[in-house]
Amino acid sequence: MKKLIVIAAVIFFFLGASAQKYDQLAKTPPMGWNSWNKYGCNVSETLIMGMADAMVSSGMKDAGYEYVVIDDCWQISRDENEEIVADKDRFPHGIKYLADYIHSKGLKFGIYSCAGTLTCAGRPAGRGHEYQDALSYARWGVDYLKYDWCNTGTQNAKSSYTIMRDALYAAKRPIVFSLCEWGSNKPWEWAGEIGHLWRTTGDISDSWNSMISILSQQKDLAKFAGPGHWNDPDMLEVGNGGMTTEEYKTHFSLWCMLAAPLLAGNDLQNMSPETKSILTNKEIIALDQDILGKQAELWRNNGDYQIWMKMLAKDEKAVCLLNSSDEKKTVLVDFGLIAQARTEGAEDSKPLKLENFTVRDLWEHKDLVLKESSTYIDILPHSVKVYRFVKK
Ligand code: GAL
Repeated sequence: MKKLIVIAAVIFFFLGASAQKYDQLAKTPPMGWNSWNKYGCNVSETLIMGMADAMVSSGMKDAGYEYVVIDDCWQISRDENEEIVADKDRFPHGIKYLADYIHSKGLKFGIYSCAGTLTCAGRPAGRGHEYQDALSYARWGVDYLKYDWCNTGTQNAKSSYTIMRDALYAAKRPIVFSLCEWGSNKPWEWAGEIGHLWRTTGDISDSWNSMISILSQQKDLAKFAGPGHWNDPDMLEVGNGGMTTEEYKTHFSLWCMLAAPLLAGNDLQNMSPETKSILTNKEIIALDQDILGKQAELWRNNGDYQIWMKMLAKDEKAVCLLNSSDEKKTVLVDFGLIAQARTEGAEDSKPLKLENFTVRDLWEHKDLVLKESSTYIDILPHSVKVYRFVKK
């Protein structure tokens, strides 16, 4: 009996030891580019290499974007050994060649698969091949895996994603693990120990209504996010044409306030100056990448006028005033009160005194000149004002 217990303990120790995610990854929300929002299934080696080049030449890399991720449709079949096979017409040199190219640019490489039997676009997926696929990814030099949830039948989400987490760990290459089960099984409650980020909703589309509806589904999720484990409200649509420049500024500001992963989804090779200046606004990106890793909370909700608040490292904070109405709004903002306020997750932080701070407008790139603590602020329709309380 004693012997049995010892054997069981040893087995448990070894299984337990492999049952973890790589926990030194994604200390701040991952930043990069993903093919899906703009190109769907129309992916190829030429496209992906071009995007890697453009990520460097456009200044995106300097602004912090790092991962170049091919989404669905790179895979076409399995070979006689059940190894996953890339589409040879579209990826003639194979996936490792592409990964090497991306690494040679100082960037990281991401790929996509799915926990079901087929991906959402009907390509071969991971179910039953998790360990084999993880080894292929590690051999190719994959740094990031997005793992979808189509064709999963009666599979249990937590155990399906746990299998892939363990497979990635066993393959011995640090790979950021991005769960994409659309929030169906409340992954924020269980995915922190499985992956580095998890989708919280269905797919974004390139419209104001879609973006704002996703925002409204984030408001109770702040407490689940932090360094190494992020809520993912889906990828960016900035620059894809379905929203105005002002709306894209709003979309980008809100995603940064939410400490969302920042995966651009536009054509990086042909960006308008407006798109580029949104995606590379370093002062806004700094909110997203703040090392404290707090997601913004909805501090005041007046329907189509909301104030989101994000606590930052070193006792700083950011606020985003959102006018989601179709009319310009003029609002009276009490910066003294905002300075003192604390979000729910940060009751233990110090209330700030306005006199110790400069209030900086992160789109105007200017400090506010405040004669009094309260002042009137104009906010355009579908627009935001984003302020950072910077210590004097
Ligand atoms: C969806 C996923 C999208 C994209 C697509 C690919 O399920 O949410 O982001 O990956 O599948 O088929």
